[in-house]
Amino acid sequence: MIAIEDVSKRYADGTVAVDRLSLQIPDHSITVLVGPSGCGKTTTLRMINRMVEPSSGTIRVNGEDIRSRPVNALRRSMGYVIQNAGLFQHRTILDNIATVPRLLGWSKERARARAAELMERVGLDPGMARRYPYQLSGGQQQRVGVARALASDPPVLLMDEPFSAVDPVVRRGLQEELLRIQEELGKAIVFVTHDMDEAITVGDRVAVMRTGGRLAQFASPDELLSSPADAFVEEFLGADRGIRGLSFLSTRELTLDRTAVFPVGSDWQEIAGRADTPAQVLVTDAGGRPLGWADPTAWGGEVEALEPHGQTFEVGRDSLRVALDRAVLSPTGQAVAVDGAGQVLGVVGQETIAAAIRAARRRRAADPEPGPSQVEAAR
Ligand SMILES: Nc1ncnc2c1ncn2[C@@H]1O[C@H](COP(=O)(O)OP(=O)(O)O)[C@@H](O)[C@H]1O
Ligand SMILES: [Mg+2]
Repeated sequence: MIAIEDVSKRYADGTVAVDRLSLQIPDHSITVLVGPSGCGKTTTLRMINRMVEPSSGTIRVNGEDIRSRPVNALRRSMGYVIQNAGLFQHRTILDNIATVPRLLGWSKERARARAAELMERVGLDPGMARRYPYQLSGGQQQRVGVARALASDPPVLLMDEPFSAVDPVVRRGLQEELLRIQEELGKAIVFVTHDMDEAITVGDRVAVMRTGGRLAQFASPDELLSSPADAFVEEFLGADRGIRGLSFLSTRELTLDRTAVFPVGSDWQEIAGRADTPAQVLVTDAGGRPLGWADPTAWGGEVEALEPHGQTFEVGRDSLRVALDRAVLSPTGQAVAVDGAGQVLGVVGQETIAAAIRAARRRRAADPEPGPSQVEAAR
């Protein structure tokens, strides 16, 4: 665990980049530093690996003051990833990734074998091993940067705006890849970004910093969205924090309507004649998978004539945000709930989802600690 204790940094020209910052950064988790440009994020990150020395205060790793360790040993225990990857342009991808193992004295064969293994881990085609950085896209270079930082298996990973230079779609892919890698490796990751959406997507805990290098709030993404500490944090979170906060609420407790779901081989005349048949029913195939919506009084039984059901949501895995999105996009206002195998469990309308949101908020108010199922739903 990294402990930042009352740390300040004043540069030679008098700029106070970081002002009495205290943060506990646990193992096996991603801690994000987020805030506007110039608020001291990079300075904070660089104080952790001693590329910048604090003016006052102490930083400890597992209780030990980082000043008591040789700086080279400290840095090798901390992978470092920067924007635009910072690769060595005259070295192949494989040799870029093998850099630190080679510095540590590994044989060329062992270092390259390790590099090849890491290429796979970060989702790079092994065919790229002998290319040079300029022959890769920005997103691929960024993956190489992550692989290089992981090469000697350091317990700590410092990442400074690693994905800020790539387009939004590639960026989302890189974020997902990071979360997947972290699930396998469980590093202590300190991740810097100026983008609150990215902070909320990748962070287990998020430190919001404001200009002048002061900490505005340190909390889980869920907590930030539901209770921002002040107007600055609230504004920085953006306009739709209410909707985004639904990402942390589980669909497990939703009351599903099973009475509007019928298999395609049903007696449609009989169903249409019943008084309690809804105006729109969801038709499923023989295996229970959704086919589409029908008005049972008008439908002639042709699957092609069904109204598309659109995307479904998986109960327990998807959040209330996803369920609400599906309901809003549905032609009937009802979202289709499925299990892990894609079989329909029922349908649920916007009103029922809204009631579930209110119930979850009431539970939250009574017990502010998010349960594991809510955290899981957010991913
Ligand atoms: N070497 C330096 N000398 C003087 N001022 C610096 C130096 N590096 C950064 N700063 C200043 O410190 C503040 C914080 O910078 P930085 O940590 O890079 O912020 P961020 O990464 O959040 O954009 C800024 O005002 C910046 O101009
Ligand atoms: Mg910076």
